[in-house]
Amino acid sequence: MSNSPLHIELIQPDDWHLHIRDGEVMKDVLADTAQQFARAIIMPNLKPPVTTADLAKAYRTRIESNLKSLGISSFTPLMTLYLTDNTSADEVHKAKAEGIVAFKLYPAGATTNSDAGVSDIKRCYKVLEAMQSVGMPLLVHGEVTTAQIDIFDREAVFIDTVLEPLRKDFPGLKIVFEHITTKQAAHYVRDAATPSNTLAATITPQHLLMNRNAIFSGGIRPHHYCLPVLKREEHRVALLEAATSGNPRFFLGTDSAPHAKGDKETACGCAGCYSAFNALGLYAEAFESVGKLDKLEGFASFFGPDFYSLPRNTKKITLAKQAQKIPAELPLGNDTIVPLRAGETIAWSLI
Ligand code: DOR
Ligand code: ZN
Repeated sequence: MSNSPLHIELIQPDDWHLHIRDGEVMKDVLADTAQQFARAIIMPNLKPPVTTADLAKAYRTRIESNLKSLGISSFTPLMTLYLTDNTSADEVHKAKAEGIVAFKLYPAGATTNSDAGVSDIKRCYKVLEAMQSVGMPLLVHGEVTTAQIDIFDREAVFIDTVLEPLRKDFPGLKIVFEHITTKQAAHYVRDAATPSNTLAATITPQHLLMNRNAIFSGGIRPHHYCLPVLKREEHRVALLEAATSGNPRFFLGTDSAPHAKGDKETACGCAGCYSAFNALGLYAEAFESVGKLDKLEGFASFFGPDFYSLPRNTKKITLAKQAQKIPAELPLGNDTIVPLRAGETIAWSLI
């Protein structure tokens, strides 16, 4: 018999890794996130990418105007810049002055809209020095892009060949290893011999709830394809252990990545799971599965703001063990999107 509670009250969480895109679709996805979260780190991989403080300011204005037309005044977007081989150290100072909270490293070719990303991290050393000196965090998509490296090994190889040398060269640089997917990454972050405010990791709901079988169960499942790709069960177990351990180095980042239904269900489908619709319910399910609902608040609401030196939220929210049917599709601009768990019933809902 389960002794899980029927309600859990927690300080309102933030989403420390989110894609909301731009244009027509932004409003729909923003509404889902702003219902649950007080703040979110907004990823800069637009087309063209958000590479300068001026572009980020303009993007923030577009987000704010969408929030206004949705009647939402309680949500704050936290802006990031997309690092390229040509980013200047000066841009770091401009970004700091504009309240931009981080830079994102996409190795060129690693994922959606990453073509303008970094070809060799050594080209960015001047920028990284400036980031280290002003306390600007680097958010890392941690996968190598070498074609010869198996897709399931790209994260583990990135740790040895890119991340570890980078941390040796910049011991004071604040780094978030985003959407970790492997036992190697979870243990690397857990065991890092540096203060907890210099290295942390975000973990998505899909990587806590599914292993790679979910991409192939009964046929190919494009809505379970994201990058980094789902891994073996032993990795899911290690991630769940890290997330529920109460270690402040691990915090919530959905990586909710909207793509229209037709762009997923096609011969060459886009990477990304749309988890924003009921992300908190999904995290609650994952934590409950190992009897650790008591650890959800730290992961979802405390450790993120602590890492970014931002105040914790004060408002409270309640999650209830109240079954909710997830729609088969949701509106996405003039299109539709298939959310994670589409057509299924999930146990936890925000009330
Ligand atoms: O699955 C993913 N989708 N992984 C990423 O790194 C990017 C994201 C997107 O922007 O669609
Ligand atoms: Zn992402």
